[in-house]
Amino acid sequence: MLSERGNQTAARGQVRPVCYRLCYQTRPPGRLVRVPPYGRSATIGRMPHPWPLFDLRIRTPRLELRAPTDDDLVALLDVARTGVHDPELMPFAFAWTDLRAPEFELSFLRFFWGTRASWAPAAWRLPLAVVHAGQPIGIQEVWATNFTTLRVVETGSWLGLRQQRQGLGTEMRAGVLHLAFEGLGATAALSGTLDGNEASRRVSEKLGYEPNGEDMVAPRGSPLINHRYLLRRENWQRGLYPVSLEHLDACLSMFGLPELRP
Ligand SMILES: CC(C)(COP(=O)(O)OP(=O)(O)OC[C@H]1O[C@@H](n2cnc3c(N)ncnc32)[C@H](O)[C@@H]1OP(=O)(O)O)[C@@H](O)C(=O)NCCC(=O)NCCS
Repeated sequence: MLSERGNQTAARGQVRPVCYRLCYQTRPPGRLVRVPPYGRSATIGRMPHPWPLFDLRIRTPRLELRAPTDDDLVALLDVARTGVHDPELMPFAFAWTDLRAPEFELSFLRFFWGTRASWAPAAWRLPLAVVHAGQPIGIQEVWATNFTTLRVVETGSWLGLRQQRQGLGTEMRAGVLHLAFEGLGATAALSGTLDGNEASRRVSEKLGYEPNGEDMVAPRGSPLINHRYLLRRENWQRGLYPVSLEHLDACLSMFGLPELRP
């Protein structure tokens, strides 16, 4: 696997990670030419990815959260196509699940590519693929504007219908809150729940959020109340799930934060 770390193999007197072997083509015969797999693999052995967010990992007992590669996005499109919510209800402020092919697929991909292209320390949006038993099953997003000053993040998420009601929505939110509070030093996290979205409301309540007012949205043209929730750092339940962060140091500058010194 390209993500395997630490394995070494010897060829032509060289010692290099196994995954490097997978990234090389022989051209002409006998001469190794490196073929970057960027965009295809999340990690390149021990060599950091030039887009460091591709190396970032959040691990919870059952889940891995990672910046989605293009292959992950195609897998997530399949998940989204099979259904994310009851069609009678719209849980999103932008009704992206109402779109029809091919606009559904094009808009889905454009959104994720857009978050990469528009990334700036002053305004960033990090959608993370939620991976369970090796398969992408949904998205856990976190975003912020002027984070280095405000220290406030906001989150949003979805899971395929088949993966819902197994506690995974709560676990993935706990994972991204660990990134925000422990990894990035956030002081508060915001979330919104459209009227009638019991699952989203319960996830926020279970993790210690408190009601924080409401505003209105109209994803399908009729007004809907968006219940706002706020989790203050002091109410964050740090140990509720064991969470580990990997390769965050190399990403800190992308969030406008100083890199940690050993
Ligand atoms: C919101 C979402 C990510 C939650 O994920 P999940 O894995 O189903 O949630 P969990 O299994 O962790 O359940 C959390 C709580 O919600 C409750 N719940 C889950 N689905 C529910 C439903 N359809 N109706 C009522 N309660 C529900 C669970 O019972 C649990 O509460 P409890 O511990 O008091 O029993 C998922 O439901 C989803 O993707 N929904 C569609 C998209 C969406 O609404 N996104 C949020 C808005 S951006």
